[in-house]
Amino acid sequence: AAPVQYQAESASISNGLVESNHAGFTGSGFVNYDNEVGSSVEFTVNAGTAGPATLTFRFANGQTANRPMNILVNGSVAASQFSFPSTGAWTSWTTRSTTVTLNAGSNKIKTVATTYNGGPNLDRVDVDAQTGTPDTVA
Ligand code: GCU
Repeated sequence: AAPVQYQAESASISNGLVESNHAGFTGSGFVNYDNEVGSSVEFTVNAGTAGPATLTFRFANGQTANRPMNILVNGSVAASQFSFPSTGAWTSWTTRSTTVTLNAGSNKIKTVATTYNGGPNLDRVDVDAQTGTPDTVA
């Protein structure tokens, strides 16, 4: 099935703001995480069946330092200190992917900043549930 796009500005945001002042985002904006440990964005995503899914995060990081985040799936850390390295400018957007295991039905994907810089600016996550069955938006 084709990946399903989940916009960060539509997710559940804790200690971050929806902004649109750096061009190149998709949807209506992106999330600017507060510059602190623990700022987070939680997506509710759907998988047709249980199994592996590729998460592709689209982001920008205009500073030089990496802005790692823990990627939690249904409350457990699936990718620890996942890197969101510099993209050179806040208007330069790129993607990084990781594969996780999802349950059938609704899942929580939470991205939590682990450094005092907070997260990158996060545009969206694409979820490819790799099941062969059509995905539906939760
Ligand atoms: C700048 C930039 C923001 C970014 C922030 C940061 O203020 O305009 O979009 O989120 O830096 O360092 O996190």
